[in-house]
Amino acid sequence: MTVRRAEEGKPVQFNTRLNALFATRLPIVAGGLQWLSKAEYVAAAVNAGVMGFITAASFPDDATLRAEIRRCRELTGGRDFGVNVSMLPKLPSGDRTDRIIDIVIDEGVPFVETSGRSPELYVRRLHAAGTRIIHKVPAVRFARKAEAVGVDAVSVVGAECGGHPGMDLIGTFVQAAIAAKSLSIPLAVGGGVGTGAHLVAALALGADGVLIGTRFLVSAEIPAHPDYKRHLVEATETGTDLILASLRNTARVLRNETARIVRDLEIRGAGDIETLLPYVSGEVGREAYRTGKVSQGALSLGQSVVFADRVEPLADIVARIEREATDALDRLATQCGRVARENDHGL
Ligand SMILES: Cc1cc2nc3c(=O)[nH]c(=O)nc-3n(C[C@H](O)[C@H](O)[C@H](O)COP(=O)(O)O)c2cc1C
Repeated sequence: MTVRRAEEGKPVQFNTRLNALFATRLPIVAGGLQWLSKAEYVAAAVNAGVMGFITAASFPDDATLRAEIRRCRELTGGRDFGVNVSMLPKLPSGDRTDRIIDIVIDEGVPFVETSGRSPELYVRRLHAAGTRIIHKVPAVRFARKAEAVGVDAVSVVGAECGGHPGMDLIGTFVQAAIAAKSLSIPLAVGGGVGTGAHLVAALALGADGVLIGTRFLVSAEIPAHPDYKRHLVEATETGTDLILASLRNTARVLRNETARIVRDLEIRGAGDIETLLPYVSGEVGREAYRTGKVSQGALSLGQSVVFADRVEPLADIVARIEREATDALDRLATQCGRVARENDHGL
């Protein structure tokens, strides 16, 4: 991995294995977002120079998913983008994953982001069709397993992330450093990434790029009510809660009435799936995005919401991250330089 800069202050030209894999200008992955990463958002990501993924589970049937993929292709002018294939930890009966993989292949989608359980069953089929896989995991041991079954890249998320940070809750700084040493395929690190300085730090730790979800939620292209986005702009790093550990399915979500009730039920030992499901079902969350009434629903959200300071087009957020990366490199250049060793002067 190399990062080239012609001169201080000029934009950074990234040349990592991650942006080479996706052929993007920046080594940034905009992770799948249930109900939210639809064609407009994914196309905005791709057009801004980062890789984006339509979340297949947001579409109730094959026809609507196909239509969204085609719409996205139009909006990107034919540029590559991906589909997020979120799977449940155990293969349940009636699982749609097989059908989604068929559609991805049939539509010629070049990338998938898989998550939830090992994508082993699908690797051969996807590769035979020329589709590359980035698999997302909350712990390095799962990343090693994914590497062993042949995925093309992994993203490893730490405890700060929105969505599912896993059961071990290892922070991103620790996770990234271990992952970089343990893997030989391209690595994106996520969980709390919200600025260009985070990107530079991830590269310094040995990663090939970053994965971002939360920081992008306030982009104009996210299809959610303005009140939801305004709420995120106001939120700070303490604006999230961890719920559902009792079901061994920990989720980091917006701190709201639903999170409080679910946590109370879990503490009282009433955390069985039948009791909790009405509160955390995806449909309740979807309604909150639609109406902007954010007190209800388990709404995935990470600690990097603190960096979401205004609603603006995704391209502007990406441009700011790029400028911040340049500033971080300038700072590093003044903070630490190379010194000649005595021997270098023949002394
Ligand atoms: C609102 C929201 C919805 C998400 N939905 C999904 C999903 O459907 N599938 C998935 O694999 N990851 C999902 N994630 C996780 C993100 O793709 C990404 O891994 C995570 O947001 C990265 O950490 P960050 O939130 O600290 O940026 C979601 C995250 C958020 C914030």
